Amino acid sequence: MRTLLIIANWKLNGNWSFNEAYASAFSSGLKDVDVTGRQIVICPPSIYLQQLNALILNQDIYFGGQDLSDETAGAFTGEISGVMLKEFGCRYVLVGHSERRVRHQESNEIVVRKALNAISAGLIPVICVGETLEQRQSQQMHEVLSSQLDAILQGLGEQVEQVVLAYEPIWAIGTGQTASAEQAQEVHSWLRERVGKKSHSMAQNLQIIYGGSVKSDNTKQLLNMPDIDGLLVGGSSLVVSEFLSICQVNEGI
Ligand code: PGA
Repeated sequence: MRTLLIIANWKLNGNWSFNEAYASAFSSGLKDVDVTGRQIVICPPSIYLQQLNALILNQDIYFGGQDLSDETAGAFTGEISGVMLKEFGCRYVLVGHSERRVRHQESNEIVVRKALNAISAGLIPVICVGETLEQRQSQQMHEVLSSQLDAILQGLGEQVEQVVLAYEPIWAIGTGQTASAEQAQEVHSWLRERVGKKSHSMAQNLQIIYGGSVKSDNTKQLLNMPDIDGLLVGGSSLVVSEFLSICQVNEGI
């Protein structure tokens, strides 16, 4: 059985007072949410990890970074290492989000280096893959996803057992245009099959989560799909009531 994983990706949002209000409303709302069988993770901007860690004391809530360096230490201005994130209470770290692949020209090689650094720091990398609308419409989706996934499979080898995969179609991120549960399921099962060519048990154990305009009203359909093991939530995770509803939606009809 794969555990359900719900991750909040705050991106470049939050500030000291917003975080205080969020943490207080989230902590009290969480008392009414049954989180059995699922892990909930918050990825704020890393500078606020310590503040939120001190404010959200619930042991069912984990923290994650939004990115880490592909280097471990040295003259790399502005970078944050996996070890630093770990020291500040992170269990997870997002790797290769499309906003980083596109804006920061992160290649598949860099994504693999980051994932390896995360694993050696004791973090679980949540590695994002996904296609643009043009790629989907011009039937290049599988080619793009294969090149992203194959780089991960080759670069990480058996360590793929220590990662989470996130399918985030770029056309669905922040657009309000969620992939339908069927569209997402189709890709998730395709990804799992491709991993299965390397190892059946690795594929069966791999958590593959979906991200892209997740809201409380499409959560259930998505989680109902056999190969969707959780959600990566951007915009909706910034609204406490909305994120709490996403966290408590149960799979199954
Ligand atoms: P969104 O972002 O939920 O705002 O579409 C998801 C993500 O980019 O992780």
